Amino acid sequence: MSVRRLAPDPVQPASFAFTAANENWIDQQIAKYPAGRQASAVIPLLWKAQEQEGWVSRAVIETVAKRLGMAPMRVLEVATFYTMFNLQPVGQYYVQLCGTTPCALRGAEALKKVCEEVIGPQSTVTADGKLSWLEVECLGACCNAPMAQINVDYYEDLTPANFRQLLDDLRNGRPTKPGPQNGRIGSEPEGGPQTLTDKALYDGSMIGAGGWQKRIAEQRKAAAEAAAVKAAAEAEAKKAEATPAAVAAKPATETAAAARPQPSAPAQPSGAASDTPAAKGKVEKKDVAEAAKPAAADNVTARDESKPELLTAARGGTGDDLELIWGVGPKLAKMLNEMGIWHYDQIAEWTPAELAWVDARLTGFKGRALRDDWIAQSKKLATGWRPESKLGDKPAE
Ligand code: FES
Repeated sequence: MSVRRLAPDPVQPASFAFTAANENWIDQQIAKYPAGRQASAVIPLLWKAQEQEGWVSRAVIETVAKRLGMAPMRVLEVATFYTMFNLQPVGQYYVQLCGTTPCALRGAEALKKVCEEVIGPQSTVTADGKLSWLEVECLGACCNAPMAQINVDYYEDLTPANFRQLLDDLRNGRPTKPGPQNGRIGSEPEGGPQTLTDKALYDGSMIGAGGWQKRIAEQRKAAAEAAAVKAAAEAEAKKAEATPAAVAAKPATETAAAARPQPSAPAQPSGAASDTPAAKGKVEKKDVAEAAKPAAADNVTARDESKPELLTAARGGTGDDLELIWGVGPKLAKMLNEMGIWHYDQIAEWTPAELAWVDARLTGFKGRALRDDWIAQSKKLATGWRPESKLGDKPAE
């Protein structure tokens, strides 16, 4: 820990005053803070004074304290706490040489010797007032160690030779180039980049001019095509499952289950069940729901399905509002229309197997038709009854 004290009295100036331009700048800084909180501007004011004079003298501290209505001791506390404030006079070119480990390992010790030879002891100003130096802690440019900050610029990748030359150039007013002194750009590896060397990575034609939109459109198209291929494969698989050979090949338990009287049987127009209410077209909601449940539970397959009668267009050019069926939204209504389903009475007349056929083809909505008992809902709608809500009437559980 370093002890930071004000410079000895002999070097302290008798007074200090901000320039007119800096006074104007100070007014703006103070105006940023609420009344009574001017002390918040203490660091900006000290910094501006240092910019003007090169260092912070006792006179600076007193002037800033007076300007902000602070006790000089409070301003002194700030000035001595932060090492960015120079408490000693500095040269026109103030060299802050990093001596922390990475820089030390890369030759900072040799640079210190250069400073001592060219400038003299730390914190002293050369007779011509041009140079002074101080060893400081890490300045955050370790990738380019060793380095020094001179006024506001970083000089990196220093060697005793180029550092000596740099100090000489500064002293004699010759132009210098801040940054790495060994030719590398920024903190890239010495000798040039070792990775990401493929020039295509920097091909600007990949961006702009709508290139990214085209790429996204192509990606979307590929995804849609993949989805279509998958859907077709699933449909094929279902078809194959429905062949007699596939049914015969099923495990005995499954075949037995298939052989059980299906709940959909009452709705078939022929056979012993022809006198049931369903066969007469009077399927009650409860019956359909009961019929649908086992089918859903058995994971309805093609053998339970029967294609209903479909239309090529709405009768009279206008279809019913299928969105009044609970569970049918705009997307589902469109899918139904595309299948050839336009009217309530079409759905009302379906058998459970026909319902299952349609349900199996509602990609993304499978199970919806069974769950919401579309047949019962459509029977009501076909009579002219309308639900209170545009969403339909939610079927009882
Ligand atoms: S150690 Fe010198 S810049 Fe970090």
